Amino acid sequence: MKKTKWWQKAVIYQIYPRSFQDSNGDGVGDLQGIIKRLDYLQKLGIGAIWLSPVYKSPMDDNGYDISDYRDIAPEFGTLADMDALIAEAKKCNIRIIMDLVVNHSSDEHAWFVEARKSKDNFYRDFYIWRDEPNDLVSGFTGDWPGSAWTKDDASGQYYLHLFSKKQPDLNWENPKLRAEVYDMMNFWLDRGVGGFRMDVIDMIGKVVDEELVANGPKLHDYLQEMNRASFGKKLGDEALTVGETWSATPESAELYSDPAREELSMVFQFEHIVAMWKNGQKYQGTRLNVPKLKEIFAKWQKLDKGWNSLFWDNHDLPRVVSSYGNDGKYRVQSAKALAILLHLMKGTPYIYEGEELGMTNFPFTDLSQFDDIEARTAAEDLRKAGVPEAQIVPMIAANSRDNARTPMQWDDSSNAGFTTGLPWLAVNPNYREINATACLADPDSVFYTYQKLIQLRKENDWIVWGNFELLNTADEVFAYVRLFDGRKYLVLVNLSDQTNTFSSVWTVKEVLIHNYNNKLDDISALQLQPWEAFAVELD
Ligand code: NOJ
Repeated sequence: MKKTKWWQKAVIYQIYPRSFQDSNGDGVGDLQGIIKRLDYLQKLGIGAIWLSPVYKSPMDDNGYDISDYRDIAPEFGTLADMDALIAEAKKCNIRIIMDLVVNHSSDEHAWFVEARKSKDNFYRDFYIWRDEPNDLVSGFTGDWPGSAWTKDDASGQYYLHLFSKKQPDLNWENPKLRAEVYDMMNFWLDRGVGGFRMDVIDMIGKVVDEELVANGPKLHDYLQEMNRASFGKKLGDEALTVGETWSATPESAELYSDPAREELSMVFQFEHIVAMWKNGQKYQGTRLNVPKLKEIFAKWQKLDKGWNSLFWDNHDLPRVVSSYGNDGKYRVQSAKALAILLHLMKGTPYIYEGEELGMTNFPFTDLSQFDDIEARTAAEDLRKAGVPEAQIVPMIAANSRDNARTPMQWDDSSNAGFTTGLPWLAVNPNYREINATACLADPDSVFYTYQKLIQLRKENDWIVWGNFELLNTADEVFAYVRLFDGRKYLVLVNLSDQTNTFSSVWTVKEVLIHNYNNKLDDISALQLQPWEAFAVELD
């Protein structure tokens, strides 16, 4: 049998620090707030926290624009608070995975401040400069619509920023920059962090003059070098590293995550997200297409040497119960169904804060309610493209990143127990009904489904290693079997508000999890309830 690594049996929980728990009443979540909630996370059963950036930052992109990689933003706390979080989490058997944002820095980082002073400066070559811009475009609109280049008045040259103009791209071709990055990673590893989630890491090998952004020819060399110089050297395969790779295919995922290549533990791939966007565009609407979803997951489950991650939500995406589930009548059942579907596949599951409560999208009605730079620039782009004003808010609202970023709903007190001050982003008005305290008091809540799934993964090697086979079923029924050690498990989910049928020749040996209370002693001809989901061992 293959040796199982801790991160293959564990479930990772993503915290967006701004929105998790405020401890000092300034309306912004912080590190001490996270420490206060460790017992909650321990109860859920997670093995690690992926902490979205807490580094010093002007917060143009909420911390994904870092001005000092070795310090903590004052709104989140201090280095001492970070050390305390690492130590306290360790006592709960929870590791801390830092967010590594090294495709770009902030324009307020000392490197960039120095770099722009003169052309022959040591730090000039830490960034990417050209006399004339080419056609590369920015994720967040630059000086003129879409350009990824901004003119620096002092030198007359343009610098590249694939995101906002306050996020200049770092020049990975410069070995001195790379050495600085690895040194900084070691600074955090020495403080006890367990690994890194790597922001848009598929872009670091870009070839600017060929306008090639993702999957550049040197990408994997850089990752191997990084592994050798930092986490591989310090932690070996105990390190959890996960690359954010919007461009990943199963073939490239093998390159990133085959252990023999000594790069990363796994990647985040986004095919099951992007394929549901209308026209492949984030702000044109989402519709769950179950046959497509089945095809994509079945393909990704066949990774051979590599390892994959499993997720529905993160801080850049809307809430899954609203986008793929039914956040009205079947909120609880659909949240559980989606969890069961995902967590019993092969790969490391990630939970985004509040997903375990079935938190929903925010009922946005006005552009002024959006904080996110991406939402604001997307609204601007839609307006320029001639989209009528009345359609802009609903289009942005459906997929806005702010849906995920509203404060965590802890209880039914004012501001959902998130802060005693004024929250930086409005709390979802449904917090009186949907909150952690209510979930913990209800044995049938979404929370306990997640807790059970985490426990099942810890105890069952079939979830980690079993072969995956998709079953041929009605369009909206997603059913698969996992085969392991001569045993067979069936996971079945009705991804629909309608009843559906399922028939099989099998008999049930044991029910492992089920989101309805009916018996499953005969699965030869089942009438599935809306969003019914279960996992059973078969005879
Ligand atoms: C991906 C991050 O997840 C997102 O939040 C950020 O805006 C961009 N990378 C730029 O860092």
